[in-house]
Amino acid sequence: MNQYVINGGSPLVGEVEIGGAKNAALGILAASIMTDETVTIENVPDVRDTNVLIQAMESVGANVIRVDRHTVKINGSQIHNLVIEDEHIKKIRASYYLIGALLGKYKKAEVPLPGGCNLGTRAIDQHLKGFRLLGANVKVAHGAVVAEAKSLHGAHIFMDKVSVGATINVMLAAVMAEGKTTIENAAKEPHVVDLANFLNSMGANIKGAGTDVIRISGVPKLHKTEYAIIPDQIEAGTFMMAAAITKGDVTVKNVIPKHLECISAKLIEIGCEIEESDDAVRLVAKDRLMDTQVKTLPYPGFPTDMQPQMTVTLGVSEGISIVTESIFDNRFKYVDELTKMGADVKVEGNTAIISGIEKYSGSAIAAPDLRAGAALVLAGLVAEGTTTIEDIHYIERGYEDFHIKLANLGAEIAKVETEKDLRKFAFKVV
Ligand code: UD1
Repeated sequence: MNQYVINGGSPLVGEVEIGGAKNAALGILAASIMTDETVTIENVPDVRDTNVLIQAMESVGANVIRVDRHTVKINGSQIHNLVIEDEHIKKIRASYYLIGALLGKYKKAEVPLPGGCNLGTRAIDQHLKGFRLLGANVKVAHGAVVAEAKSLHGAHIFMDKVSVGATINVMLAAVMAEGKTTIENAAKEPHVVDLANFLNSMGANIKGAGTDVIRISGVPKLHKTEYAIIPDQIEAGTFMMAAAITKGDVTVKNVIPKHLECISAKLIEIGCEIEESDDAVRLVAKDRLMDTQVKTLPYPGFPTDMQPQMTVTLGVSEGISIVTESIFDNRFKYVDELTKMGADVKVEGNTAIISGIEKYSGSAIAAPDLRAGAALVLAGLVAEGTTTIEDIHYIERGYEDFHIKLANLGAEIAKVETEKDLRKFAFKVV
């Protein structure tokens, strides 16, 4: 059954250590097979998405050694198959980074169409356009993307939409293409920069990552490296939001405060106090939080991956707040679950109008996707009574030890596998 059970009402207090960025890790793991030498990657989060991608890489012949929970050594010299067939791969969207990586190295790839969270239409036209401009012949057949080229050459690629995935995939395919590639209207997210830094540490020549024009000069081959992945902006933001909603006092450690500014700014606006140091952020919330207006935007704007957590927080803040989702067209599905907890949220198109209530009430709910699942956990932390959350496998796609980290901060939360465990938890906390 695998559920979280939460008894709401405890403010979170203490320190929490943030892991490596899942979305950076996915690009970096895929990129690691682009050399025949052994690459060491540290700070890899132990979450389902990275583990599924590693399994897929192993299925085509990559040799992966887990040095410890967060360090892997990867060698791509024995890759014997350019067709990813692993069933798991359909479950994670980032499977498509293997198209860019395999195409870039071997000039051929066949990868099932991506899965991942259902947040509405998630086209990959910009990825395919980029591969084609680099000289690949690309078709979608039998549920897979098949890309092939005699050779790849540099190109001028203008992205019609700012896309993290397309920027990363085209960077992977272009890094060993002959000549110069320019990606215009590129995504500027921290994980795009981290992947560029990783590839540069392998001998690539990428400039401008973090701006909207990325320039790549193709190199003939890449070499070994040792690299540590950046901290996870969204995990950090989720714990800041958890501290805010529970009126807690939490120091979120091992972060890059600059990456959190878009989140911190909104939290300060609704009444939180935030102190930044070199690699930590302390959030203190004392009084009831206030209303605001939020619109999700590509980085450095407010991240869509923090939208559900923000909406849940505003659901128990004073006044009427408005949250506009401008990246995905179906990212308010969790509002039905939140309504079961007493929330007063009306969704009109891509806008949620939130009338803050005093308190959520504990309910039996289910996680509809990764970030919304985490947001519903935050609702459970402040709900009156007990909340049970099913389908936590979504949450485990992107949060390592989520319930353990929350419990260490004083939350009454457990992961239960049987009815017996559930009753035991209820008995313990009553
Ligand atoms: C990545 C993140 C995800 C985050 C999202 C936006 C990973 C593994 N996932 O997803 O957590 O929510 O960025 O920050 O890093 N689009 C097109 N055509 C394309 C590609 C995208 O129209 O070829 C559209 C999408 O439908 C969406 C928007 O562009 O509306 C942004 O998508 P994108 O940035 O590509 O998101 P992902 O890379 O899938």
